[in-house]
Amino acid sequence: MLYAIAHFLRDRMPWVWDLVDAINSWLFSLRYGRKLHAVEETVLKKYSQETGFKVCRMREVDVARIVEFFARQPEEAFTYFKPHKFDAKSVMKLQKNRSFLAYLLVDESKIAGYCFNRSFFHGKGFRGRMVDADYRGKGLGTLMNRLLNEIGFGIGLRLFETVSRDNVASYRSAMSASNVRVLKELEDNELFLEIVNR
Ligand SMILES: CC(C)(COP(=O)(O)OP(=O)(O)OC[C@H]1O[C@@H](n2cnc3c(N)ncnc32)[C@H](O)[C@@H]1OP(=O)(O)O)[C@@H](O)C(=O)NCCC(=O)NCCS
Repeated sequence: MLYAIAHFLRDRMPWVWDLVDAINSWLFSLRYGRKLHAVEETVLKKYSQETGFKVCRMREVDVARIVEFFARQPEEAFTYFKPHKFDAKSVMKLQKNRSFLAYLLVDESKIAGYCFNRSFFHGKGFRGRMVDADYRGKGLGTLMNRLLNEIGFGIGLRLFETVSRDNVASYRSAMSASNVRVLKELEDNELFLEIVNR
């Protein structure tokens, strides 16, 4: 029901959607801002040292490079990945949103991975991720799940994700990096999962 209302607002009444987004971003930063900053500093530094990538917040990277990352991915990469639009205006809006906790793995100058917890001030976050086609199958999807868990659980969020059983790599990386509880079987072989903090 909530999902349907959200889609209706986003598609038919974008100004209401934007207003709700702005209020959520403000309330989220009031509730979690200080803690988030401390947790991100520790976790991002740890993952940068461990991986050799620069692991940073999405807002620290130039918007043109992020748009180029999405543009160079093959069409199939978007079959199960439709969290938002990928044009410069949409990306800039997300960069400013304090509740959209998004991170990039940057390999020298190339972006190798993108992940986020789309979060809400009442304490929930929804995970998503994309690995550059040239970097797939090397464990980065699983690694980004761990990073999202450490930051999300680190500030006290409950984490959720929708995953398709047909999206084998995504399904397996969700299972490898996390303990999960299936909350609901959705249409089209999709599962609504809660990630359990172990
Ligand atoms: C899903 C995605 C992020 C996985 O990233 P990745 O870095 O390639 O995944 P990993 O290397 O961490 O592998 C994760 C698991 O999937 C398996 N796997 C990876 N690619 C696979 C493939 N093509 N076929 C079958 N299994 C595969 C790995 O063996 C691993 O399983 P294990 O943990 O049991 O050993 C990546 O494929 C992607 O960006 N897809 C497009 C966007 C998308 O669908 N995002 C998810 C929806 S939010």
